[in-house]
Amino acid sequence: MLWKEIFRKKCYAVDEGRFPRKLGLLDLTFLGVGAIIGAGIFVITGQASALYAGPGIVLSFLLGAVAIGISALVYAELSSAYPISGSAYSYTYATIGEIVAWLVGWNLLVEYGVATAAVATGWSGYLRTFLEQNFGFTLPHILTGAYDPSKGTLMDLFAFLGVVAVFFLLTLGIKESATVNTLIVVLKLLTLITFLLFGIRHIDFSNLENFLPYGWIGVWHAASLIIFAYLGFDAVSTVAEETKHPTKNVPLGLLLSLGISTLLYMSVSFILVGMVNYKELNVPDALAFAMYKVGNPHVANLIATGAVITITSVMLVMGLGFTRIIYALSRDGLLPSGLSRVHPKFKTPYVSTLIGGVILSLLAGFIPLKVLAELVNIGTLFAYFMVGIGVIVLRRSGEITATFRVPYAKILLPINLLLLLFIMMGLPKETWMRFVVWNALGLAIYFLYGYRKSRAYERSYEA
Ligand code: ALA
Repeated sequence: MLWKEIFRKKCYAVDEGRFPRKLGLLDLTFLGVGAIIGAGIFVITGQASALYAGPGIVLSFLLGAVAIGISALVYAELSSAYPISGSAYSYTYATIGEIVAWLVGWNLLVEYGVATAAVATGWSGYLRTFLEQNFGFTLPHILTGAYDPSKGTLMDLFAFLGVVAVFFLLTLGIKESATVNTLIVVLKLLTLITFLLFGIRHIDFSNLENFLPYGWIGVWHAASLIIFAYLGFDAVSTVAEETKHPTKNVPLGLLLSLGISTLLYMSVSFILVGMVNYKELNVPDALAFAMYKVGNPHVANLIATGAVITITSVMLVMGLGFTRIIYALSRDGLLPSGLSRVHPKFKTPYVSTLIGGVILSLLAGFIPLKVLAELVNIGTLFAYFMVGIGVIVLRRSGEITATFRVPYAKILLPINLLLLLFIMMGLPKETWMRFVVWNALGLAIYFLYGYRKSRAYERSYEA
């Protein structure tokens, strides 16, 4: 029966001992902070406060933290029930069924893929500032922004080249080692702390007087955009199989990395809107820009340098996530197996990496960051929403016991779903239309291809 088949579940064998359990709480927290803090705080904060929230952006970050915080608890519960890799895709395949897992995977392609492009656009803005300040190098205006005839820009050349470079490195199999990740995270924290320490002296309270210029609606719309800054926390739950005492460390690691990021986000955004009038912040390099504005070019330069280096690492992590999702989908038969073909010499899934590189570099070059980020947000929030349903299904089934359980679940689980929906509803109509088209395409591919070719089709799965 069709209904039974599209909701077939995958039984995951937890392959104990496949990976050595090496990671501790500190490693997980670094991994989380490394994946979370990126273009969101460096770029989108400025745009969201200029366009939507004004100084109220601080409250948008708070709202985002509550929604994402509960999702992190949900992820923690599922990762303790299924300490397997694959995150949202595997959780929904195991709890709800194939068609939902496919749609989650299909949207995670957007999360990781389009986010790589979005992050590259943010990176490009800081790179231009860095090159201009240090080497006096400026690109022709036409190459400094996404295609927009009204602004006289054709393409964002650096964003395009950034994605090409990232996918080139991924094809060669270059991954960040844990040590490099740790160094980059330290640099990231130092960059933001430098901003806080120097910025706090330049707060002009008159900038904060009109705290909610666009009202609560503005805070809500801004939350839908800056939620981008919180995405990536799920990276922590993807390494459950490699973690010591995962049932304790994964939930703690998730919450700690989110907590640190939230604290930084709220304080950085507060100081940013205190330093300059929010109306001036619709620029690609808001933190460096604010430092220039208050007459601190050297610190501005330090921040631009820190941003360029640290955002590079987010691009790599996101790009890698993208190739892993394609790999997982094609391994399960939901996408053609050719996509997971591994290069004989570099041992990387080079076909999916090359295709991803071409598509995403074009997106990065020609589409503005805001449009890309909104698309990422809606797809990812959808995945979190489905995972939120997954945990309810898991609890109802009573078959698997999770060692970590979301506290006050009767209240928090429904609030989680409502908050995620609420934040999704704050996104523009065009984003919803893109989301619907993308998912309609996903469903068509599923029924024409994945439904028949799924590896689960060959075996009998519980429905
Ligand atoms: N949270 C990530 C960032 O802000 C996606 O770049």
